[in-house]
Amino acid sequence: MIVYFNEQFMDKEKVCISPDDRGFLFADGLYEVIRSYKGFLFRAKEHLNRLSYGAVHLKLGRTDFSELEEIAEELILRNGLELEDATIYAVASTFDPGPAEKKREKGIHIITIADTRWARCDLKTTALTPNVLANQAAVENGAQEAIFIRDGVMLEGTHSNFMAVFDNVLVTAPLSNYILGGITRKFIFELCASQNIRVEERPIFEKDIHLATEMMIVGTTTKVTSIVRMNGTLFRDGRPGPVARALQEAYNSEIEILNMG
Ligand code: PDD
Repeated sequence: MIVYFNEQFMDKEKVCISPDDRGFLFADGLYEVIRSYKGFLFRAKEHLNRLSYGAVHLKLGRTDFSELEEIAEELILRNGLELEDATIYAVASTFDPGPAEKKREKGIHIITIADTRWARCDLKTTALTPNVLANQAAVENGAQEAIFIRDGVMLEGTHSNFMAVFDNVLVTAPLSNYILGGITRKFIFELCASQNIRVEERPIFEKDIHLATEMMIVGTTTKVTSIVRMNGTLFRDGRPGPVARALQEAYNSEIEILNMG
């Protein structure tokens, strides 16, 4: 596997990180997950802009990461991944979309969990201990995602944004320091415009969630995935709903168009 490390392409085995590295010692670092559909990097610029935003706020001393787009493309080529749906995470690796597609078909189970994260969740930092613990709690409860609750509001998942449908309107938490501004979240808004689905950015209180007709998570790895069970209780008829289905279809056809272009 060829990776890119401090301005050089090299064998992954040759990478040496100092034990004094601040990322290693203090989790003082940022990351991005950009999905490649058959060699085409999806929304790379938006991901790299978010990286710059984080770097400004963590005061990392470097804010322009635009060259990473070309580097990511080069990594895909050098690793012979141009025909695969690969995921770029500083290295290029294969990503099996199969299990995620199955989950999308049937819908997933979630738990809700108190948000113990810091107050800068808008920065995509590598300090993910609360996310890892919450995800572990989900797994231990037979669920695939945990939704963070702060002040009674369902904010986002451990690795996805959260959305619900009320009276045919797709609702999701407004951008703030308490959620990550998802690239997929924004893409979904664009899809909603073309599908004539109304969107509202407002807090979703856990106490009101029984009024929702659908719940879903959205993100680079999850795309649009319906939620069919919450905290062990079946949600509605336990099947993905029409808005999620419409968005999944619109999502896939948009990717098809990009791949052909
Ligand atoms: N996670 N919220 C959180 C906390 C996330 O970690 C992610 C993405 C999202 C969705 O963002 P986007 O649409 O830009 O992927 C929301 C990535 C995929 C991960 O850590 O694997």
